[in-house]
Amino acid sequence: MTDTVTGGLAAPLADPDSFVEGSPWKLFRALRDDEPVAWTPEPDDGSGFWSITRHADIVAVSRDWETFTSSRGVSLEDLEDDQLEHRTSLIDTDPPNHAAMRKIVSGMFLPRVVNGYESFLRGIVATTLDNALAQGSFDFVERVSSEIPVRVLARMLSVPDTDHAKLTSWGDRLVGGTDPEFADHLPGTPEYEEYRLVPFRSPAALEVFDYGRALQAERRAAPTGDLISRLVEAEVDGEKLSQQDLDNYFLLLALAGQETTRQAITLAMNTLVEHPEVLARLQSEPELLSGPALDELLRWGPPVYHMRRTATRDAVIGETAVKSGDKIAMWYPSGNRDERAIEYPDTIDLDRPTVDLLTFGKGGPHFCMGSFLAKLEYRVTVEELVARLDTATFSGPVERLRSNFVNGIKRMPVTVTNR
Ligand code: HEM
Repeated sequence: MTDTVTGGLAAPLADPDSFVEGSPWKLFRALRDDEPVAWTPEPDDGSGFWSITRHADIVAVSRDWETFTSSRGVSLEDLEDDQLEHRTSLIDTDPPNHAAMRKIVSGMFLPRVVNGYESFLRGIVATTLDNALAQGSFDFVERVSSEIPVRVLARMLSVPDTDHAKLTSWGDRLVGGTDPEFADHLPGTPEYEEYRLVPFRSPAALEVFDYGRALQAERRAAPTGDLISRLVEAEVDGEKLSQQDLDNYFLLLALAGQETTRQAITLAMNTLVEHPEVLARLQSEPELLSGPALDELLRWGPPVYHMRRTATRDAVIGETAVKSGDKIAMWYPSGNRDERAIEYPDTIDLDRPTVDLLTFGKGGPHFCMGSFLAKLEYRVTVEELVARLDTATFSGPVERLRSNFVNGIKRMPVTVTNR
């Protein structure tokens, strides 16, 4: 058993610059082989964290929520108690409260409900793709990915379709906090301190709160049974949610409901361009997308790099001792390519009988609540895309988000020919 705190190999994972050229696959492999539970020092005032990169360890940590709590936050930021008090939402809540909070809206994300969106979704996707592909050359992020999940979200929130640009821009500012193009302010500035009680330390969160509050007031006056109505009507332990709980829950849904799926769709196109053999196979056998091939594409292009947990007691992960209070980052893309769990993981194989996917988390209470919806949006978009595309190439540099949290692409110029 190792209990020494080492540094070095995993250190680049704490630096968002390590991700601007794409996922650090070689580093992930080296860590899985040589230091699967690796101490990762953080620059500035960060306390450092353990990086876990093997599939089995990620599942074990996700499952054991009593030893590895979410209640100190799921991003790597070190949060003081007053920050947690203001910023906690469903995703940072442990059982048993977690179950009661999740139940408020989870019914709206069940397959039988979500499947009801398919024809509406196919309509949006068809129009979006027809308009974009007719251009021949265009930015896939702007013209396609940014148009689809956000419109589904707008429908779930019963807000006007025209609000979609606002929702997308809030998503960019919230998850893009480490990218100078999107950040309202970077660490070290006075504003960074000023907004310390606000999720992501971003003024965008306050705009989302205001937007959500206006919707909540409308639904209190006239409930419609939508997501917002459920939130304002919900009772946990006989009490309605506080305004702060409503704010944070709404923000989580508004963000999780579009940003990740938007990135997933961009990453899917990236795969189709980089691997024309995958495009060709899906063009001839689109029905593959109704089976495990869909998970294989999601394994290859996962939008979330990590979630954090915090040890509630001294514990052992794999063969490494961690101490109570230590932060742990579960690197999902690395687990997705762990040869201990997935045969020949560096190959896209659309014929795998099953895919042990970590893209949405695995094994724990926080497993992505929107996974069926995300998969539906992803499947319909890729189906409609391969039905229209003949060839696709990059027509300029793919620009990535400077983030070690979201595997994001900001711009992806493509040139296409259509069938
Ligand atoms: C491809 C798209 C998506 C990906 C990759 C993704 C990924 C994830 C991951 C990794 C987690 C944390 C799992 C864990 O800690 O065990 C999560 C949680 C969550 N996701 Fe997603 N997600 C996606 C789409 C969505 C959508 C469309 C929604 C709809 C609102 C959504 C809502 C949520 C919520 C509410 C949670 C927190 C659940 C909880 O704490 O109980 N996600 N997601």
